Amino acid sequence: MTVIDTPVDTVTATRQAARALLAAGNTHAPHVHPDRITRVDRYFTDDPTPTPALETARMQYSAEHYARTTALLPTDLVTALRNEARKLADLNPRRIDITVPVTGNTPRKLGSLPNSLFQEHSELFTALYHSTEFRTLLSTVVGSPLLNATYQDEAITGTHQNRVGDTHGWHWGDHEFAFIFIAEAPAIEHGGMLQSCPHTPWNKDNPAVHQKLAEGTIRTYHHGPGESYIFKTDTSLHRTVPIQTEGAERIIINLTFASVRDWLEEKTYETTAAVYTD
Ligand SMILES: [Fe+2]
Repeated sequence: MTVIDTPVDTVTATRQAARALLAAGNTHAPHVHPDRITRVDRYFTDDPTPTPALETARMQYSAEHYARTTALLPTDLVTALRNEARKLADLNPRRIDITVPVTGNTPRKLGSLPNSLFQEHSELFTALYHSTEFRTLLSTVVGSPLLNATYQDEAITGTHQNRVGDTHGWHWGDHEFAFIFIAEAPAIEHGGMLQSCPHTPWNKDNPAVHQKLAEGTIRTYHHGPGESYIFKTDTSLHRTVPIQTEGAERIIINLTFASVRDWLEEKTYETTAAVYTD
């Protein structure tokens, strides 16, 4: 009589491991009270995203590795986020004027809001970061799970550009995804627009920024106050056009999310260390 081994159920075991990974990557930080997350979740459940808007964002992300998400955020939430961003920008005294070697010595000239500022003074952005409804929405847009950033200092940051010449020069992100909320932005003739050149991998030893720009296609996106977008920062060389007019102001809050691949790689975080930490 032949004895047949019982096959090991690798499908079940792998699925359980994948779910455990997602659960571990969606835990919330101790400084964020669960009630605040629930309140942000409620904005989305009370005012569900229209399906056509979600479909438009999905298609744009697929084509451009960028999706405008303005139509996905409830109006009341946008108003509250703009107010909190203004408060945080006014609280923040930190400005930098540096160049960063791993991105080919491109400039960073701006007010930089570090993660510690959000841990101490943000109620809404920290709750939004951990909102299940929000993450599910963004995951649908990009077509893969969004997890906590692998580096806490990079999870939530902000920039404040309000002097002529202020710019966030050409660079890549250390994580796959960034959701950007535009609290304030000037009219297009005053600068401050996003420019992004997707499908450009980052070699930190030889960033070759000009070469990558010459080989790729640069798209320019203007956003008004209250708009937002998500994009694939690790393979999209991007910058903001320098502010060109006295009195023009741009305030953005950056929520950074990791992909599964981000958690599987050993990374270094030179640009965040240079721009957002002392
Ligand atoms: Fe960036």
